[in-house]
Formats: sequence, structure tokens, C-alpha cells
Amino acid sequence: MDEKYDAIILGTGVSECVLSALLSVDGKKVLHMDRNDYYGADAASLNLTQLWARFREGQEPPKDIGRDRDYAIDLIPKFMMANGELTKMLVHTDVTRYLEFKQIAASYVYRDGRIAKVPATEMEAVRSSLMGLFEKRRAKKFFEFIQNWRDEDPATHQGQDLDGTPMTKIYDYFGLEAGTRDFIGHAMALHQDDAYLQRPARETYDRILLYTSSMARYGKSPYIYPLYGLGELPQGFARLSAIYGGTYMLDKQVDEIVVDAETGKFSGVRCGDETVHADMVIGDPSYFRAGVGEKKTPLVRETAKVVRAICFLKHPIPNTDNADSVQLIIPQNQVGRKHDIYVACLSSAQNICANGLYVAQVSTIVESSTPELELKPGLDLLGPIYEKFLQISPLEEPINSGADDKIFITRSLDSQSHFESLVDDVRDVWRRATDGKPLDLKKRAEDEGAQVQA
Ligand SMILES: *[C@@H]1O[C@H](CO)[C@@H](O)[C@H](O)[C@H]1NC(C)=O
Repeated sequence: MDEKYDAIILGTGVSECVLSALLSVDGKKVLHMDRNDYYGADAASLNLTQLWARFREGQEPPKDIGRDRDYAIDLIPKFMMANGELTKMLVHTDVTRYLEFKQIAASYVYRDGRIAKVPATEMEAVRSSLMGLFEKRRAKKFFEFIQNWRDEDPATHQGQDLDGTPMTKIYDYFGLEAGTRDFIGHAMALHQDDAYLQRPARETYDRILLYTSSMARYGKSPYIYPLYGLGELPQGFARLSAIYGGTYMLDKQVDEIVVDAETGKFSGVRCGDETVHADMVIGDPSYFRAGVGEKKTPLVRETAKVVRAICFLKHPIPNTDNADSVQLIIPQNQVGRKHDIYVACLSSAQNICANGLYVAQVSTIVESSTPELELKPGLDLLGPIYEKFLQISPLEEPINSGADDKIFITRSLDSQSHFESLVDDVRDVWRRATDGKPLDLKKRAEDEGAQVQA
């Protein structure tokens, strides 16, 4: 370990592994370390032994739920938008060759005390219980407006201005009911709270287009998921990094982030009595909580907390047509909250648990001093729960840009149901760490997507 690296990367979360792959491909000498003996950091996919070690210390997993190797339980539940930025990044870097994806079978939304399928086809939309007849006509006009909008053609604007008008005014223009607004804003545009209503409509327009174009890709839902769990994503990027010379060290305790006392710049990482040197460090927030240098000032701050429950079920989520995988969104308005509750359910169809089991994850942003109670509306939809693992984790972000100290910190994986913000963060860290060099991904044919099973 006496050589000098261009960059040391700490933590093998998705963002960090994408960044180490990008740097390696760019010809940089990269050393990537993780304190855990598995990939994925906070977003790892754990087997039964690891899951019990984390949540049920000293206990053995029950014998009747299958073998260790049948399990890959995500610590942070997320799906990928079929047409989203992470999918594009996987395709452009060719990391898709290490992975296989499966469509999520259906998307549901909670409305007036029960759940309804988010229509996947015109036919389902016509039959949907989500809207009455007249509301369906109004919604149809709204969606035609979205689909037909062309920036350069004012005839398609109906007198509206996406950049100057708040979303709530666009809903008003089409006369949409409150429940329809909840459904469009939360189950399609995937906003987590209602602050978007007052922001310019463009953002929501973009999100609706992402949803509909992702939906159009494979047909059943806009979401795809890697077989064997989300932990496959960082590993795919790590393999790419390794091909370009990146070095990986798991199970490596980082004892100190060393900064030069004179310049205040990052100089190396100390593990035991060994220090490895590099020009910069990139890492997830957990490595920088304790602060660095003489003053030990923390380099990250907490913005919120997320509460998540991993629930083992012995049946599919009730009222979902026995779907093997489901995204279910409970818009905050429907249950008197400020943030939505997400339920993501997977099964052996995605090779993440033993046959006959279903793993539902319920999550939301903490708003009170009794976080577990906040999950109740979601937990109540699951039927009998066989095992439940509860975790509360901080959402953290860097305080500084890293320009002065060459310490570039990623953001925690957020509480959204998908990965779109992760790619924004990767682009941001890349820009900061490379003095504004644009991220230039090798471009492949436009219509080439990921390999996805029905
Ligand atoms: C499960 O995790 C443990 C602990 O990391 C590991 O030793 C074991 O090999 C894993 N089992 C399988 C089947 O992957």
C-alpha cells in the first residue's frame, strides 16, 4: 500500500461505485475501500445470516424459511425507472451485461381507504375505479395536453406556461379533482410531498413524461429491478472499475481521514498504522461524520430521517391480484401526513427470497417522535406479517463542496422510490471532483435498453 493513488473511494454504495468506474474508465488510479465485507454499504442486499446479524443479534434465522443463498434483502428499497437516468447510465457504460432485470408487475395507489391499480393501458384507464366518468374526460384532456406539448409550438400550449405557472394552476385549468391531483402528483410524478404544487409546472411535466415513457417501455409498470437484489448494481460498476485497473478492498477499517496540517487538503486514509495517499477522496457520508483534521469538525449534516420496515410475508400483498412484485404509494394527503408512505414488495420471482415468501418494505420520512406508528397505514395493507425488521436512518449531505480540501462527499440514498436523484448526485460530485469536467458517457444506440424479463 505504498503507492499513491489519484483517488481513494470510501464505501461501496451505488454512487461511489459509479464514480469509481467513471474515474477508472477516465484513466485514473483508484483505490476503493469499504468497512463491510460486502458490497453496497447502506444499500446492500443481505442474506439471512447478515440480516439476522444486523437486526437480531445473537439469534439464528428460523429454519423454515429457506437457505441463506436464496436471500438478497435490500436495506434500502428502490426500483429503477425503465427510462430513467440510472438505466441510461447502465446501458451507456455497458454494465447491463453483468445484470438481468425484471419488470415490476404493477403499481398501486391508495385512495379513499383502499388501493387501486395505477392504469397501465388505455383499457385499464377506462375501467379504473380511480375516477368517475366526467373526471376521466377531464383527466384525458390533461394527459393529451402533456403528451402534445411542444415547446416551440404555442398552438399546443393552450395559453399555459410550464415555466411560469405553478402546477396547481395547471390542475385548476383542467378542473381536476383533489384525488386526481394526488394520484397524478404522487403515483405518477412521484413527488413525496405537496410542495411541488407551488413550483413551476415544468418539473412535474418532466416527471409525468418519465413515468409514461418508462411505462411504454415494457408495459406492466414503469419500474424494473435487478435479479438478486439492488446489491448487484454497485457490484456491476465495481467490475467495470476493476477492468480499468480499479483496486477494491472490502472489510477494511478506516481509522482516520488524514489532512495536511498546513494546506488543510486531504492527504490520505489511515488504516491501523498504514496510511495510503491520494490526491482526493470521495466517500459516503458515514465516513465523515466524525470530522477530519485537528478540529474534528463534521463534514456532513443530517437533513431528515427515514423509517423503514422490512416485512416478510407468506402471501402477496392483499388486493394486488397476486402480483409477484408491486409498488404501492400512499399519498400523504390520503392519510393526513406531509410525506408519502411507500410500499415496495418483491418475491422469489426476483430471486431475492425463498419460494413462497414475499418481502414488503414500508418506508417514509420521519415526521414525529414515534416513527414506527407513522408506517401503520402501510403496514395495515400487508395482512399478517411473519417477520419485521425496523430501521431508522439519517439522510445526510456534505456541508462543503470539497473544492478546498479535496474531500468529496456523496449524499445518502434518499427516501424516494427510485434512483433519479442518485444520478444528479453522481453528476454533481463528478463536476466538483474534476474541476467542472463534463461527464461524457460513451453513447450507444438510443433505443437500446436493458435486458428485461416480463
Ligand atoms: C451470507 O453472509 C455471510 C456473512 O457475510 C457469508 O459468510 C456467507 O457466505 C453468505 N452466504 C451465502 C450463501 O452467500
